[in-house]
Amino acid sequence: MCGIAGVVSSQPVSDRLFRGIKNLEYRGYDSCGVAYLNSSGIVVRKNIGYVDSVNVTERLCEIEGHVGIAHTRWATHGRVTKANSHPHMSCNGDFAVVHNGIISNYRGLRDELRMQGHEFASDTDSEVLAHLVEEYYRVTEDVEKAFTEALGRVEGSYAFALISTHEPGKIFCARCKSPLVMGIGNKSNYLGSDFITFLSYTRKVIFLDDGEYAVICGDDYYTKKIESGELVDKPITEISWDPETSKKNGYPHYMLKEIHEQPNAMVSAMGLDNQGVVELARMILDADQCFLVGVGTTYYVSLIGQYLFSIHADHFIPAVSSDEFTNLAKPTNNSLAIFVSQSGETYDTLNALRFIKEAGGSSAAIVNVMGSSLARMADHTIMQGSGPEICVVSTKAATSQMIILLQAALELAHLTGKLSRGEKGEIERAMSEIPGRINSVINDNSEFIRGLANKYSHIKNWLWLGRGLYYPLALESALKMKEVTYLHAEGMSGGFLKHGTLSLIDEDMYTVVLVPPKEEEDLYQLTMSSVEEIKARGGFVIGIGFDHDEDLFDEIILLPKVSRFLAPFLPLVPAQLFAYFVALSLDREIDKPKSLAKSVTVP
Ligand code: AGP
Repeated sequence: MCGIAGVVSSQPVSDRLFRGIKNLEYRGYDSCGVAYLNSSGIVVRKNIGYVDSVNVTERLCEIEGHVGIAHTRWATHGRVTKANSHPHMSCNGDFAVVHNGIISNYRGLRDELRMQGHEFASDTDSEVLAHLVEEYYRVTEDVEKAFTEALGRVEGSYAFALISTHEPGKIFCARCKSPLVMGIGNKSNYLGSDFITFLSYTRKVIFLDDGEYAVICGDDYYTKKIESGELVDKPITEISWDPETSKKNGYPHYMLKEIHEQPNAMVSAMGLDNQGVVELARMILDADQCFLVGVGTTYYVSLIGQYLFSIHADHFIPAVSSDEFTNLAKPTNNSLAIFVSQSGETYDTLNALRFIKEAGGSSAAIVNVMGSSLARMADHTIMQGSGPEICVVSTKAATSQMIILLQAALELAHLTGKLSRGEKGEIERAMSEIPGRINSVINDNSEFIRGLANKYSHIKNWLWLGRGLYYPLALESALKMKEVTYLHAEGMSGGFLKHGTLSLIDEDMYTVVLVPPKEEEDLYQLTMSSVEEIKARGGFVIGIGFDHDEDLFDEIILLPKVSRFLAPFLPLVPAQLFAYFVALSLDREIDKPKSLAKSVTVP
């Protein structure tokens, strides 16, 4: 969804700017570019490709300048071409802009600007801002005024950064529904789509809010409201994340590193201040109607939460995908929506949050990124503390969110009297085993799973099946598989299979079945009947389960025995590893799969 970086400094900025867009590559990586101000004016270098490869052709780090803006692109308007990459210039070359978001009225603005004689170099919506500012500068002869006048004309979502030859020591930036964060350094100030952009240089951060803009110099800055021009005094937040944790630490990919970090991330989730979970359970109890809301992986985590609340607390909380929330939900002023999001910046999820707020309902959030829009906008926020998740494919954030949802379900069960303090304590003590068990799954099974992945990576169609709580796990496993391997993978409940999809089963369609432990008698039997149905039609079945049933499965990944309450926390990890190793064997771009971005900030 595009990443924006900016640096203003008393020292040359090219290295820091380059590193900024490297850190932001997870937000989009089809093209990138930089714009610097130096004695000869604005220099723009950009091209298609990853940041490192563009650096080879365009030598991004070799430009002199103390003020610069940069961009990584995830195309929305206009194909992936050099001309469509950012930064974009005004006709006269006095202004350069980078943009994240979508300008919904850009066609009308472009027609109007063309009538005034402007020529456009790209097919993007973003370029209109550069021309608009040029146009307003002609009248106002004041860059800040021209910038805010231009912002007043654009509709949609944006984070903009602009530099101008008329104000050589400054960056102008603004935010409306797309994230933008300032970093306050020593004789250097920074700008980024998130604080990871500049975390190696400063941990002091200012989060811009919608409708605000900032003017940033090397040793000073101010923030104002776009509409009124009123100064806004923004608090500085000190970020506790260690920049080292956002490095690969010897792992070949962030995905593998983050899979391995899951036990620790879960320990952090279990160690959070319990008050956050207690408050969430109370909010659920007080509301007439609750929803669990997320999208992609976090929708599946919400579905897992739906089962956890039903199983443990006898409380039905429907999960709704945030992209459909406004089409489906009918919230009232006594509704509660619980949002789940790694980034806290996902457009659809924020849109659903605005929807529930408009209805007068309340909101809670389980979120990983500090200071993100969701974290700041929700009435009650639980920061999950999983540390930076860099790979586009979510792993550790999701399993930690599952832990928090289980804690909330147990707390609710206790509040309603379904679980005594002792019973709740017993499950919680058992829960503390999960990280250790996951560690064993990773250590004991990785090589076996790698072998399976190498053996079967030529198979193009995959079905992932589960029943009960193992059903949303199957959906999430299939999502992992398709996003990182680019193979067709479908997740489904075992019961649903007979209602159509069974016709696809043959020797070319492989199925992975997530099998519950035998103690879950009914669920186990029902799952095994799905396996029988597939085998009867010549299908190949890999089992991920806790019991050895050699006759039925063609292959089995065996998991350590744990209590039936904890068992559902294990199968996702071998599924993630399988997806990873298949992708590795197919030589995919694992951390940045094609066409995807980590934080989807457009509708
Ligand atoms: C997960 O692997 C995906 N990259 C994607 O589905 C993601 O979960 C979704 O875009 C939601 O993101 P969020 O958690 O940052 O809101």
